[in-house]
Amino acid sequence: MDLTIIVPTYNEGPNVVELLGRIGAAMTGRDFEVLFVDDSTDDTPAVVRTAAATSPFPVRLLHREQPTAGLGGAVVEGFRLAQSRWCLVMDGDLQHPPETIPTLLARAEAGDVDVVVASRYAAGGTSKGLADATRTTVSRVSNLLTKAMFPRKLHGCSDPMTGFFLVDREAFDVEALRPRGFKILLEVLARRQLRTAEVPFNFDERHAGASKASFTQGVRFLSQLTMLRFGRMSAFALVGGFGAIVNLLIMWGLIRLGMEYVVAAIIASEVTIIGNFLLLEYLVFADMRSESGRMRHRFVKSFVFNNVEAAVRIPVLWVLVEGTHIPAVLAAALTLVAAFIVRFVFHALVVYAP
Ligand code: GDD
Ligand code: MN
Repeated sequence: MDLTIIVPTYNEGPNVVELLGRIGAAMTGRDFEVLFVDDSTDDTPAVVRTAAATSPFPVRLLHREQPTAGLGGAVVEGFRLAQSRWCLVMDGDLQHPPETIPTLLARAEAGDVDVVVASRYAAGGTSKGLADATRTTVSRVSNLLTKAMFPRKLHGCSDPMTGFFLVDREAFDVEALRPRGFKILLEVLARRQLRTAEVPFNFDERHAGASKASFTQGVRFLSQLTMLRFGRMSAFALVGGFGAIVNLLIMWGLIRLGMEYVVAAIIASEVTIIGNFLLLEYLVFADMRSESGRMRHRFVKSFVFNNVEAAVRIPVLWVLVEGTHIPAVLAAALTLVAAFIVRFVFHALVVYAP
């Protein structure tokens, strides 16, 4: 077997037969299998099984009863089950034309490459299938942002968010991937420096059904970017630093409005604690939320902890200054560093405990 074609599907019943037909036509004379990784709630599995029974090439189906990590998780499962070293990932709605697959394979066969990316933005490609102006803008802006964050790893890749690519499974570690939503290629490219090449393609209109992209997917993407770029602890520190600035700004504003500074400080701190919690939920610990109980309970733990921590830090500072004669500012810095570490450990192990 030379190639495994991995197709993640979520309610794509009406597209399966057309997809397999066009793959078969484009790939005549080649040795390959198609592997559907399906999380559908409709008749897609039945449609795939029926088509597989008469297919001239092997068609396999993994139906996940308990889907994890959505589209990205499905692709990772596909990598695990693939029979061949080279894997092609494509959508099941025919937005990725099967006729482009031989071009991708030809580029891989030319050598010196770990990933061949089918790009909407390379010269000769189009993105007309991005239904409206909003999606086009979101796609362009997130593309720039991502490229700016990984200038070296994404060098020469004009479309790191595409869901259409060919990859050598031995060039990366499947188990190191942490899929969180739609952008699985980014997950592959951002972890290790791979040799990439690209081929333009025309991102078509959907054959049938509707896109599963959503605002939630957008938030997942931001979380993925933050974690890939900074790692959990730095992302946590970033949120904390941002919170400190917001805290001071709110306090300054309230004092200007005539409020007593102690009251202003208390209000600013509480608002910041709540805001930080939301950023932790959606950016830093997004991947751990589903396994760590109710948001309400996490909020209470985080809120109580932060208040206790703030209240304890001052007496600790006093003891430190009086007991050791360390300069007050240095002692304050030490308590802040210690507080940061304790806060991180508490959130990672207690608030977001599975
Ligand atoms: N197994 C599984 N589980 N498959 C899923 C899931 C899921 O939770 N959600 C979506 N899919 C499948 C769909 O059935 C389809 O085959 C493919 O993943 C892409 O989903 P669409 O809903 O068609 O997404 P899109 O067209 O908005 O997004 C595509 O284009 C983006 C670029 O604009 C995808 O290819 C994205 O990966 C890509 O970034
Ligand atoms: Mn689509």
